[in-house]
Amino acid sequence: MPKSLISRSVLATTGDNKVISEVADRVRNSSVSVIKEMMYLGAQEATRGKDIVSLGVGLPFYPAPKHVHTHVINKLQTKSDIDKYTLLTGLPELRNIVADISTNQLGFKVSSDEILITPGSMAALLYSMLALVNPGEEVILPSPYFSSYAEQITIAEGIVVPVAMIEDPRVGFRLDVAKIQKAINNKTKAIVLNNPQNPTGAVYLKEDLLELSKILKNTAVYVITDEVYDYLLYDNCEYFNIGEIKEIWPRVIRCCSLSKKYGMMGWRIGYLHTNRDLLMNILKVHDASIVCAPHISQEAAIAALTGPQDCVKDHVKWLSDNRDAICRRLDKLPELFTYVKPRGTYYVFPKFNFPIKSIEMAKRLLYEAKVVTVPGIGFGPEGENHLRLSFGSSTQVIHKAFDRISDWYAKQK
Ligand SMILES: Cc1ncc(COP(=O)(O)O)c(C=O)c1O
Repeated sequence: MPKSLISRSVLATTGDNKVISEVADRVRNSSVSVIKEMMYLGAQEATRGKDIVSLGVGLPFYPAPKHVHTHVINKLQTKSDIDKYTLLTGLPELRNIVADISTNQLGFKVSSDEILITPGSMAALLYSMLALVNPGEEVILPSPYFSSYAEQITIAEGIVVPVAMIEDPRVGFRLDVAKIQKAINNKTKAIVLNNPQNPTGAVYLKEDLLELSKILKNTAVYVITDEVYDYLLYDNCEYFNIGEIKEIWPRVIRCCSLSKKYGMMGWRIGYLHTNRDLLMNILKVHDASIVCAPHISQEAAIAALTGPQDCVKDHVKWLSDNRDAICRRLDKLPELFTYVKPRGTYYVFPKFNFPIKSIEMAKRLLYEAKVVTVPGIGFGPEGENHLRLSFGSSTQVIHKAFDRISDWYAKQK
């Protein structure tokens, strides 16, 4: 078992991640993301009849808007080619809609030629790694980072370079631009910027992004942005998209999603935006794997993006109430948890004060308190001694989980 796997995989410690000697190194060295591993263990406990509550996976509790379902039902009944593939790049109507949205977001003209419709942003991210990274090339991840990036880089046979973020009590986690600059060398292929950030709830400061872009524009480093949570900001916090900075183009790949914004995770729909030449190369990975995003999901995306947007405001309001609820519960356990308040996303990343490592902590909370959490080590070395808690589920679930964690902690004293 590779050493790095033992330290970041929960299933490696339960015997469920048996590495078969025949598999290629790229698979041997990678793991199912720690988030899904905990989801798997939670489901295993539930099938054994245990009453499990989850603060684990990032599933928001709301469904897709009604008008999306209505549109899809209508298309199923009336669109004669709905069962067929679409063009590789996606439905032209959807690409045009996304190009217009991107033009508004970035403040310069984006053409539909620069848009690839993908089955979720996860595919867009993996395509980017496979299309850009040669074996041994490095990808910088501000750390803690979303666990799947490390697995995708490993599958591309690249090297993960975590660069610790600064934990600033005033604004939460922020980029350490000087450290990123130091980490860049002639093997650096890309940096991934997930803003707002999973797992910390950080929203990167505009001043940091501007400074970083000044450095990046004089290098050959690609910027891969993961914009899954770009709508999910609290307390009127300012959001700045680094893609707005013209000088760093064309070396930008934007990975975007409808999953969280519209409660459409299961539809597997998102998109990638980059310069046309690179897109035509990325298309080779898309064609060799998926061919096209599901036709029906592309129709659902048209309805979501062009329909009323009030639902998004409602989602943000509900999640903001959930954030307040989980922060109040964390505040009641000051001996166990310290944390910075998330400014975006629906995750909080508290540090725990308990003398075991995060994998052990998450396992004990699962098996003894019946609560799913995600061990911080899965999000990079800087994540050790933390847990990722999702507050995307209902407020009742948050309270039920914290009642159990409080009872569990009382018994440890
Ligand atoms: C940071 C981040 N990126 C990407 C994804 C996956 O998004 P999608 O459903 O669009 O593939 C998630 C899902 O949790 C996420 O948190």
